[in-house]
Amino acid sequence: MPTTTTQIQLLQPDDWHLHIRDGEVMKDVLADTARQFARAIIMPNLKPPVTTVSLASAYRARIEANLKSLGISDFTPLMTLYLTDNTSADEVRKAKAEGIAAFKLYPAGATTNSDAGVSDIKRCHSALEAMQAVGMPLLVHGEVTSSEIDIFDREAVFIDQVLEPLRQNFPELKIVFEHITTKQAAHYVRDAQTGGKNILAATITPQHLLMNRNAIFAGGIRPHNYCLPVLKREEHRLALIDVATSGNSRFFLGTDSAPHAKGAKEAACGCAGCYSAFNALGLYAEAFESVGKLDKLEGFASLFGPDFYSLPRNTKTVTLVKQAQNIPAELPLGDATIVPLRAGETIAWTLA
Ligand code: NCD
Ligand code: ZN
Repeated sequence: MPTTTTQIQLLQPDDWHLHIRDGEVMKDVLADTARQFARAIIMPNLKPPVTTVSLASAYRARIEANLKSLGISDFTPLMTLYLTDNTSADEVRKAKAEGIAAFKLYPAGATTNSDAGVSDIKRCHSALEAMQAVGMPLLVHGEVTSSEIDIFDREAVFIDQVLEPLRQNFPELKIVFEHITTKQAAHYVRDAQTGGKNILAATITPQHLLMNRNAIFAGGIRPHNYCLPVLKREEHRLALIDVATSGNSRFFLGTDSAPHAKGAKEAACGCAGCYSAFNALGLYAEAFESVGKLDKLEGFASLFGPDFYSLPRNTKTVTLVKQAQNIPAELPLGDATIVPLRAGETIAWTLA
């Protein structure tokens, strides 16, 4: 009889794509992440966006103040800058010197708070050249924004129109294709030739490993399952599961946990973003267990990310136990509330 795993131990993971916002709500979401992860790549899509080293330093200081008030001393935010048409090569070099972890490319209008994003990547030539020269990773939101392109095709079209030419022009640039959602993206990253160099990777969210697009319309419209890039067909989910659980070091954990207050999601024009931070590790464990690959979770969650970013691996360990955790219907978010992923249901794995 096959034995069932009831407990797994991992080196402590990091979250390589996270939104924690700013102001009053930040401390509510930070605590959830810091319970599970040692470090997180902090997305810069604030209003206004974090476009300079000095804005990032101020944001880091606000994060550190919140961590202090929460009594958390073992969590490190890894700061990013928001790339614009006007980002200079000097700002890139300064960012490198100041320990900024990456730049983020949002095609203008692609997602939440991306209006100040890049209108045409050709405008970023000198900044990209500097990133390539200093080894600064570029994190890409990989969707074209043209309204004529079907929303379910925008990621695949981005590969042909933007990503492949970008890689041709900057063959040494370190790139993370963020929150991939399609078979095309999974296979593109898996099969790309990089001359043996560790310069191309992708992050994958728990929702894209666990759900397909039916989840947005199950018995009625489900705003809390709506994020960008939007969930895709089952064949795409299966392709993501396949690469995530394959042990290929190009694929690692990035929750894209993106908090929006309940009222901003349950609205005539609801915001994009799933709040997975409450028990993101449990969700990933479910996804890996569903294909009998729990043994591949540690690489994905804890090893491949730091290796890509040339950061040391964590040394502490965490233990996940197979014990159903009830997920609250709502959680506090400043003066409002937030509805977490799986609200009112259970997650099969819990952090010990
Ligand atoms: C993110 C957000 O709300 O900031 N939303 C989302 O649906 N993922 C932005 C993003 O990462 O695209
Ligand atoms: Zn995001």
